[in-house]
Amino acid sequence: MTDSVKIESILHEDRIFLPQKNFDERISGAYINSTEAYDEMYARSVKDPDGFWGDVADELDWFERWDTVSSGTFQDSKWFEGGKTNICHNCIDRHINMGHGDTTAIIWEGEPCGSDGPEVQKISYYDLHARVCKFANALKSQGVKKGDVVTIYMGMVPELAIATLACARIGAPHSVIFGGFSSQAIADRVNDANSSVVITCDGSWRRGKIVPLKNNVDAATELTDVIKTVIVLKRCENEITWLEGRDFWWHDVCESQEEDCQCEQMDAEDMLFLLYTSGSTGKPKGIIHTTGGYMVYTYLTSKWVFNLKPDCDQIYWCTADIGWITGHSYIIYGVMQNRVPTVMYEGAPNFPESDRFWDIVERHKVTQFYTAPTAIRAFMKWGDEFPAKHDLSSLVLLGTVGEPINPEAWMWYREVIGSNNCPIVDTWWQTETGGHMLTPIPGATSTTPGSCTTPFFGVDAAVVNEDGSEVETNAGGLLVVRKPWPGILRGIYGDRERFIETYFGRVEGMYLAGDSARRDENGNFWIMGRIDDVINVSGHRLGTMEVESSLVSHESIVEAAVVGVPHEIKGTGIAAFCTLARGFEASEELKKTLIAHVANEIGAIAKPDVLKFTDALPKTRSGKIMRRLLRDVAAGTDSKQDVTTLEDFTVLAKLRAED
Ligand code: WTA
Repeated sequence: MTDSVKIESILHEDRIFLPQKNFDERISGAYINSTEAYDEMYARSVKDPDGFWGDVADELDWFERWDTVSSGTFQDSKWFEGGKTNICHNCIDRHINMGHGDTTAIIWEGEPCGSDGPEVQKISYYDLHARVCKFANALKSQGVKKGDVVTIYMGMVPELAIATLACARIGAPHSVIFGGFSSQAIADRVNDANSSVVITCDGSWRRGKIVPLKNNVDAATELTDVIKTVIVLKRCENEITWLEGRDFWWHDVCESQEEDCQCEQMDAEDMLFLLYTSGSTGKPKGIIHTTGGYMVYTYLTSKWVFNLKPDCDQIYWCTADIGWITGHSYIIYGVMQNRVPTVMYEGAPNFPESDRFWDIVERHKVTQFYTAPTAIRAFMKWGDEFPAKHDLSSLVLLGTVGEPINPEAWMWYREVIGSNNCPIVDTWWQTETGGHMLTPIPGATSTTPGSCTTPFFGVDAAVVNEDGSEVETNAGGLLVVRKPWPGILRGIYGDRERFIETYFGRVEGMYLAGDSARRDENGNFWIMGRIDDVINVSGHRLGTMEVESSLVSHESIVEAAVVGVPHEIKGTGIAAFCTLARGFEASEELKKTLIAHVANEIGAIAKPDVLKFTDALPKTRSGKIMRRLLRDVAAGTDSKQDVTTLEDFTVLAKLRAED
């Protein structure tokens, strides 16, 4: 810890790591290499956002130049209006046009490890162009037109990236559904988006087992009649059922297609994709991102936060699934625009052994590595001997995303994975923000374990009271952004009212992130947690209401309350309190049935870690469930909460006595 200095601080965390001096040499020069440079550039980005973002957009290709860089308020924010472009062109064709067709675009590794090691594909821009064009033509021949929402429910195979890029190429917004979600979740999303074409795989590999994706899609077609066409990639060769006229093999629809397909000229504000995410109430909401702003924002955040440099032997790996925003922005779009090879790994971190990630880092010589705190905590638990087996010296930068990282995990990451020689970028952002919002800039920002530090360029973030006034240093408050940025969501699909109310209804004139935060005396932001009924399980957003609805949809349950509970690996686990219907008895077996029921309704990520039966739930006299008391019970703590409004004290005593 040679470059750490101690400061006088009221915080528990007082370790500060100055921008790494040798970082520059290790990555052939940092784009931004001093705090002063950051300060100066940041000041310009907020004073003259149009000048700043216009310059960035100029680094990319446009079929027609924009008239205005930005316009509108938060509720109708527009970027690069009048401009025409295509993000697929900027991810692929632009590089080919500049003579880089033979450069590797994607390095893909399958999960199964035969005697010759795992299957690896290195896909050049030429190859990718041909495969994307073929599939884009196949989609067209299936009747897909500009503006049609195409649903993608696949494992982490190259064709998942190919499918999203093909959709972008022809202007059909994609809606990617994480392969861990269930048939009900597919049906809900397909219905909401009125998406008649679904692309899937026969199965996907996960920890040596086959996830039956096609079966799940079949089950979804029983729940909705919106799905008319299913395109199936053969991956696991597992047995599947087939409906002639609806189901088509990927290889069949691609077979006779041309290897060229012109990019659709997209208006900057044409929809690029929809991505469903959990909110505090009801069904997941379809977050809308459009073409130009998202393109420019993911391009620049990838470039400067990960210091991506083409032609410098960099290999970048983000371990997220493309089913989440992290995969959209930082496996595909942002990274590919920067012409640095992006690694895609199909399977689990502990298959066949707990060193699989480190094995991948070593074999592919990964330079920038981006993962989630939940994974880091799992690695810590599995033991240092797994990373120790591998040469990780190729690494120059480490990143995290998805949830607050506890300082011990941050330090372990830095010491054990980064050999104290890699800056860590703890990136705070959301599905709604499109890209990084609060993050260190490697080479420029001093970091402190647990803090996502300072705003990215053009981001006017603050911690405020309900009236929009800034809170004092180190006081908790609402995390907001006070000015639109290019990557901001443009709406919730089909629900303008919910869009306005959720993000702009509480603090006048500001974007409400839904997180609470504080800012320390160095100006660093610390995320404290969600302020709504959303929990963050293993870095994945889940609405507690979604889990509750699924529990009460079971005949044995009349009422359920779900809260987050601290969990060693997941960060937050799920605790469910359930009231039984008449005629049902509490039993271990019923518990198991209910947990399986939730997995079936939503997906395995929503399985309660703790499930308790109770005669009644603690409520206020006006009938509101007192979740904070349940959080205490679930965590086994007693924070001496104010219980004066509790209606029936015996309920609480019984719940506590049960363990
Ligand atoms: C949380 C994921 C602390 C936060 C990109 C946010 C974080 C939600 C961080 C968004 C971080 C994400 N530190 N908390 N670095 N990154 N979060 O939409 O609560 O899946 O609101 O986007 O994750 O989750 P989402």
